[in-house]
Amino acid sequence: MAVERTLILVKPDAMRRGLAGEILRRFETRGLEVKAARLVRVERELAELHYEVHREKPFFGELVEFISSGSTLALVLEGEGAIATCRATIGATNPADAAPGSIRGDLALSMPDNLVHGSDSPETAASEIALWFPDDELV
Ligand code: RTP
Ligand code: MG
Repeated sequence: MAVERTLILVKPDAMRRGLAGEILRRFETRGLEVKAARLVRVERELAELHYEVHREKPFFGELVEFISSGSTLALVLEGEGAIATCRATIGATNPADAAPGSIRGDLALSMPDNLVHGSDSPETAASEIALWFPDDELV
């Protein structure tokens, strides 16, 4: 399987609850390697660009408010099949549907507080990494 990079966001609800360490530990113990990290107070412009594909959805405004509501820890993680493996480690979008053992299934209860974002394809991973990190911040 190909070595991939993916964008992970530890969202403001996770930061407020002091779960950044626990969440990063789960990715690291799975075998993923941190290639970049930055703590961001997300501005509206970045939030809207990140969630551009959801612009027409009824929950777009809420999404932008939520990701802008506090600090977000942005990470680039690398490993074999990193995109799908991170999505599986994160669990289903709605924590109510997320399997126990996943981050959302163990640490979250309901929408919109689902703790983590992970890129969903090689194309979105590339564009999201470029959106959140200048090239020279990747090791
Ligand atoms: P994420 O992008 O945060 O990793 O989550 P995801 O791929 O599992 O879910 P996605 O479909 O990309 O949705 C992005 C975020 O939008 C919110 N959402 N709300 N009310 C709804 O029906 C609904 N659907 C999605 C969630 O906060 C989700 O994380
Ligand atoms: Mg998504």
